[in-house]
Amino acid sequence: MPMTDSKFLARQLSSWFKSSKRDLPWRHDINPYKVWISEVMLQQTQVKTVIPYFHRWMKAFPTITHLANAPIEQVIKIWEGLGYYSRARNLHKGSKEIVSKYHGKLPSNSEDLLQISGIGPYTCSAILSFAFQKECCLVDGNVKRVMSRFLHLEVDYSKSSHYRLLEEELTKALPKHEPWVFNEALMELGALICTPKNPHCSKCPLQKKCMAKLNNNQLKLPLVKVRPKVSHLNRAVLIFQYDQEFLIQKQTSDLMKDLHEFFYFEFDPNISVEKHEKFKEWQSFSIGLSKLPLVRHSFTRFKVSLYPFVIKLKEKKTFENFEWMSLKEVKLRPFSSGHRKVLAHLEDFLSCCNDFNSQNLAYFSKV
Ligand code: ADE
Repeated sequence: MPMTDSKFLARQLSSWFKSSKRDLPWRHDINPYKVWISEVMLQQTQVKTVIPYFHRWMKAFPTITHLANAPIEQVIKIWEGLGYYSRARNLHKGSKEIVSKYHGKLPSNSEDLLQISGIGPYTCSAILSFAFQKECCLVDGNVKRVMSRFLHLEVDYSKSSHYRLLEEELTKALPKHEPWVFNEALMELGALICTPKNPHCSKCPLQKKCMAKLNNNQLKLPLVKVRPKVSHLNRAVLIFQYDQEFLIQKQTSDLMKDLHEFFYFEFDPNISVEKHEKFKEWQSFSIGLSKLPLVRHSFTRFKVSLYPFVIKLKEKKTFENFEWMSLKEVKLRPFSSGHRKVLAHLEDFLSCCNDFNSQNLAYFSKV
């Protein structure tokens, strides 16, 4: 970003924020504890939902020490309704760490902050910026949207390259004077003016130099690439067993190269697997057939349902590209994730049915 634009950005944001910012409770008598709690509450939750929770929290636990000494049940009770309860558990755990390691005060450097339960890179930067007035930039969803439009960034929003590019630009643009105002103003602008669907460009302090506005591309940015459609696959997985050995293949396709799998084939889920030609072919060689629980699995753009069966064979047949091996050996081989889940069911099955011909039914009545 050219220097003139950096200066414009900082100046415009600062004066707009000072006259237009919302009166939010965590903006009163700022301290590191309030910043920490508000930032965690604001993750995945709207400002208007957070406000009453923030008031109740501060009344119940006015300091980090109060929080650390409170029973977890009380903490969860105050959090009730905000969702993602691991946030509350981590705040409680983190407060105990802060009391025991830092005398009840949040540290002011990223190394120590990042060691505290529940404090990740974003919360750490927010605490450093808003509570300790350090020069660090903040990238949340609102900031990403405002800056993607201001700079006309045509990089896929969900890619890490988009994040890196923004961080680089923001680091250059961050003013030495009141850098925390710059951060909070960008967030506020994203929340109030530069909104996802109906941005209020005519009220925006950045409109004169906003590249998206100048190109009339506000609604096209940030760029979110349409994900390829998910395809559903249904596969029957036949686990051939002879004595204590199982038939395994090593995959050669690019996607699954060197990973092991059982024999499988695609089938139409509207017709029962047992009626499939491939299945019937094998039945004549089998002396036992058992159905294992369904496995659901996703990879790349596929969602797969795996229907596993154990087929106990009368004789040890050989097949091209397949190997017979004991369960112990099978477990040592690298497996594709879906077939590893099938393998877990197989182990479960074998451990509960040593003689699976006779105990098979008992097992299936349980699943
Ligand atoms: N979203 C995340 N942090 C915020 C803050 N400090 N004020 C308003 N909205 C926010």
